[in-house]
Amino acid sequence: MSQHLLLPLAILAISPIPGAFQDSALSPTKEEPEDLDCGRPEPSARIMGGSDSQPGTWPWQVSLHQGGGHICGGSLIAPSWVLSAAHCFVTNGTLEPAAEWSVVLGVHSYDGPLDGAHVRSVAAILVPDNYSGVESGADVALLRLASPARLGPTVRPVCLPRASHRFAHGTACWATGWGDVQEADPLPLPWVLQEVELRVLGEAACQCLYSRPGPFNLTFQLLPGMLCAGYPEGRKDTCQGDSGGPLVCKEGGRWFQAGITSFGFGCGRRNRPGVFTAVAPYEAWIREQVLGSEPGPAFPTQSPELQSGLPEPTDENCTIALPECGKAPRPGAWPWEAQVMVPGSRPCYGALVSESWVLAPASCFPGRISSDLPPRDLDHWRVMLPSRPRAERVARLVPHENASWDDASNLALLQLRAPVNLSVAPRPVCLPHPEHYFLPGSRCRLARWGHTEPVPGAGSLLEAELLGAWWCHCLYGRQGESVPPPGEPPLALCPAYQEEEVAGRCWNYSHWSLLCREEGTWFLAGIRDLPSDCLRPRAFYPLQTHGPWISHVTRGAYLEDQLSWDWGPEGEETETQTCPPHTEHGACGLRPEPALTGGLWPWLAEVHVAGERVCTGILVAPGWVLAATHCILRLGSTTVPYIEVYLGRAGASPLPQSHQVTSAPPLLCQTEEGSWVLVGMAIRGSRDLFAAIGPEETWISQTVGEAHFLLPSGFPHWLPEGGDLCPPDMARASGSPRAALFLLLLTLLIQG
Ligand code: ARG
Repeated sequence: MSQHLLLPLAILAISPIPGAFQDSALSPTKEEPEDLDCGRPEPSARIMGGSDSQPGTWPWQVSLHQGGGHICGGSLIAPSWVLSAAHCFVTNGTLEPAAEWSVVLGVHSYDGPLDGAHVRSVAAILVPDNYSGVESGADVALLRLASPARLGPTVRPVCLPRASHRFAHGTACWATGWGDVQEADPLPLPWVLQEVELRVLGEAACQCLYSRPGPFNLTFQLLPGMLCAGYPEGRKDTCQGDSGGPLVCKEGGRWFQAGITSFGFGCGRRNRPGVFTAVAPYEAWIREQVLGSEPGPAFPTQSPELQSGLPEPTDENCTIALPECGKAPRPGAWPWEAQVMVPGSRPCYGALVSESWVLAPASCFPGRISSDLPPRDLDHWRVMLPSRPRAERVARLVPHENASWDDASNLALLQLRAPVNLSVAPRPVCLPHPEHYFLPGSRCRLARWGHTEPVPGAGSLLEAELLGAWWCHCLYGRQGESVPPPGEPPLALCPAYQEEEVAGRCWNYSHWSLLCREEGTWFLAGIRDLPSDCLRPRAFYPLQTHGPWISHVTRGAYLEDQLSWDWGPEGEETETQTCPPHTEHGACGLRPEPALTGGLWPWLAEVHVAGERVCTGILVAPGWVLAATHCILRLGSTTVPYIEVYLGRAGASPLPQSHQVTSAPPLLCQTEEGSWVLVGMAIRGSRDLFAAIGPEETWISQTVGEAHFLLPSGFPHWLPEGGDLCPPDMARASGSPRAALFLLLLTLLIQG
């Protein structure tokens, strides 16, 4: 409702156009008690996912203006009466003054001459006494015009249903309006009235769709007097700015208004059909308000066969729509993987995002993104897609406007000349909405992106687990800045690779995208890891901030709601909104030598968890071993698994194949006197980043009692060239929140 379609003030100046048409053309056929002909346009699909209407098709559609701009739609039901939605006129519980509003009738688009269009001011706005907000129903309003509309070929009233009128589940109806064409994407000039075919959804079917967990964490109860229309798979819907406009269904040659556009959750989302105010239940209320005004609205009777249609089956209708994107036969076999071949350069990898669009890094097409001209050689470009016998041709290249200077926007969209048939392959990848929250611990994979280099042992390298947003944010140097909470786009996404060893050395290839899986469906979550030298975990630019741009350009990319909501018993630590002061230092400490391999360090302990995972612990006192929390507790589980600790053999014996090594060795520094001091524990998924021990001194000494800490005078120093590897304040630092470390002390139950 915040997105208003602003129309130039000049439009209002044209009214009324004297003699634009004659008032004569009406010869009403006598009908029941009413004498007004209704619901018949002159003989002659946002609205989201709709199309331009033809002039005169929907002659009852009006545009309601306030402050010189279109705010809501409405429908003409009698020469002096317009039906609309209460929420258009009520702000914070108060009805806005009628004088601020005007009604534009007979308008189709706002470009050329507004033939037949005229404006009326509003004499009164009437809203039911029990209206309190859209979600509690009664979202209906009547506007009495200061003077009657001039009826003509482009201005005619619609028929209203009686209270007994039934619009059966599955009935095809039409919604019209000048609202947004997608979420937060206004209808472009020249503002041609949009129409879209929507199907009426029975109460049970609609409630069933809304009971599916979705993006807005809602529990929504459909109330009597509400009506749903749309599709389980979404994509066609009304949107902001369409409110108050009509949903009409044709019966026996007349158009009846079944609903008033009221609200929805997002626009065109899967399992989230639009909610309308059902008009039929308001027959009595409408009649009461218009009493005595001649001619009043027409309520033709419904033909009996239609009225006694089959009742909606209750259970069978509960068919939830599943995502049509992001399904892969097995991880690594990506049905959306696209290879763009540009003559004279190496193939560039991207992803299919809809039947006709491929997303790829803009840097694959240097020299073609800065100029406004379309590349001349587009004719020779080809796109290879899985399971397609021939290469696709390219019609258009649309680089992101910031592509040439902002790495996070290094994106371009390529339109194929002909849309491909989507099936098992090719199939598009799912894209996240801006508010998507990829849960820590999510299973992710890296996929080729751009000019990928061949990587040794790549297969196993590509598996990753997402780190918590808080860690990722703090490790990437934004100390002091608050961490975006779930629901706000993150600044970076950090996957921790599962197979550290394969890389062996610093892994410099940065041409990867990050795919994350939710309920078996893959989302393109991030692009191109941030330059991070050799530090890990690495970070990716989140793609979710670009969702609106991608759907604006493609008008059909598969933006998909979040599918997994299980945050575990505690969820992520979201109250901690600021990074601890020492993250930067705590996360320093590049290991100068490959590893502490071979040497039998007497304090190293092998911690075996649940018989399968192994991590390194440190003997800090005769009865105590220090280990990283992530090694012991798995995300989402609160029970402590079965743990065994082996002393005096760390690294000495090869581990059985089934063991998964969960943590890298800790960081030790030597003092001038020659003693070794434990300075950091490797953080999850990294060999090179360490959490500092210093700040945990109080906790450790309180718990263990006999642990030995060096006095400040003896703080460790380290001589090799990289002198800043153990910055002095690491050992002294104190008071940083516990959350920075995730250490766990294990008491040893010595068994004889
Ligand atoms: N409340 C919106 C308006 O004021 C209408 C939203 C309809 N949304 C939907 N998804 N059907 O214009």
